[in-house]
Amino acid sequence: METLKNVAESITDTAKGMLGTSNEKDTNTESESQPKTNESYDQLLKDDLQYCIHGLHHPKSHSDAVIWKRAQGCTYYDIDDNEYLDAISGLYSVGIGHGRKEMAQVAFEQLSTLEFTRNLVGTSHFKVIQCAKKLVTLAQQDFPDMATAYFTCGGAEANEAAMHLALRYWQQKKQVSKRRVISFKNCYHGSSFVPASLNPNITTYGWDRFTGKPGSGSDIFRQIDFPSSGTMDFHSIKEGESMGQAAARQLEETIIDAGADTVAAFIFEPIQGDGGATIPHNDFFPLARKICDKYGVLMISDEVLMFSKTGRWFSLAHWGIQPDFIVVSKGLSSNYAPLGAVVITKEIRKVCIDDPSENDPWFHDYTNSGHPLCCAIGLKNLEIIDEEGLIERSNRLGPKWLGQLMDAVANKESVQEVRGVGFIFSVQFHKEVGEDIAKALLKDEKIVANSSGNKLCINFSPSLIMSEEEWTRIVEATARVIDKCAE
Ligand SMILES: Cc1ncc(COP(=O)(O)O)c(C=O)c1O
Repeated sequence: METLKNVAESITDTAKGMLGTSNEKDTNTESESQPKTNESYDQLLKDDLQYCIHGLHHPKSHSDAVIWKRAQGCTYYDIDDNEYLDAISGLYSVGIGHGRKEMAQVAFEQLSTLEFTRNLVGTSHFKVIQCAKKLVTLAQQDFPDMATAYFTCGGAEANEAAMHLALRYWQQKKQVSKRRVISFKNCYHGSSFVPASLNPNITTYGWDRFTGKPGSGSDIFRQIDFPSSGTMDFHSIKEGESMGQAAARQLEETIIDAGADTVAAFIFEPIQGDGGATIPHNDFFPLARKICDKYGVLMISDEVLMFSKTGRWFSLAHWGIQPDFIVVSKGLSSNYAPLGAVVITKEIRKVCIDDPSENDPWFHDYTNSGHPLCCAIGLKNLEIIDEEGLIERSNRLGPKWLGQLMDAVANKESVQEVRGVGFIFSVQFHKEVGEDIAKALLKDEKIVANSSGNKLCINFSPSLIMSEEEWTRIVEATARVIDKCAE
């Protein structure tokens, strides 16, 4: 009978044979690596339009969609083998670059060994343990009070779990009236019920729609200005106040107005992604921590988009404060598999998980929480980022790349501001031309980038392995497209 070790070795050999080793060059030929399709673009698009709904979907905006066949490094290949440079790393996510064989190998080994198990109390497995330990250890470097992680398959799910824990925390503390949540006015925390309710300006889904009472969500969900020049209501700044102080005062006034005994949590993106690398005034977060401590409000730092992108693992670390929750996704697995997580402090863990009686466990479960494949992929991704020094690389090159982008476009008439931190960059325009710029980059320059939701910005989030030559191509193409579409 074969021993477990023999089985594991033979699986590994098979995987190596099929996939090549991790440091092997990409020598795949067409026949080895690319999905075969006999279908023409026209037929595929027709089927796509008939059978698929995409995010933010309208069929008219999808009528000339590009259909990818494969991706390698920072390049996508469409079904006719045209090359496109990926300036948004998938969707702010593929930090380690596309098509890495060692990731495919990990997936093969994991699926051949343990493809799935329930992750409910009473059973566990290697990869969920190792991935949680790695993530929490990284978090503890910036936030020493962090203790434990709960895995999800994405950002919105993780924010829902964080919210559930925040409400449970106050319930366990016998402060059940604490249930209101404060966020930023222009926030995005996901498309499921609670995250959607946090910003009624961008979706008709969420609280208001369910209650049938427009504006009724504002009883639960309150908003304040994000302290940056593009998002702050300048009329609300008092003489002698910085923008950060003014937003912190708004936070305090909102808590007092709602009643401190009714506010459970403040949820925020430390740096806003969709709005276009929007960086808060430096005074804000240290003051916000003090205010939240004063009134007993939990801080949920939504790092779904920024995790690993800003020259630090966690973007809130730029301000040196300790949150109560960190929510991560995207860069956690480089989206080689869907993975998100909420990481909580010792205090939240004690009150929500350890102290309650056995008859009162935290009732929260996603079937795919701690999925072996996703955790194996997440662990390997974190190891690669760590071992290849990719955070340090983006921290070192980010300012230079931002300077390059500024030199190329900042003095154009249509451009209001060029911003960036680490490998997150954005060009903000005076007019809503972001979508036109994104479209022209895609069609004319074969570069994939993202318009902000408000259409004022074109956003870039290069993979952490992008070469300097590739970034230069993006900068030069952006300058050309701005001249054509916006000047
Ligand atoms: C800050 C932030 N939070 C949450 C989400 C939602 O994540 P998901 O799409 O994985 O549910 C996103 C998605 O872009 C995000 O940018």
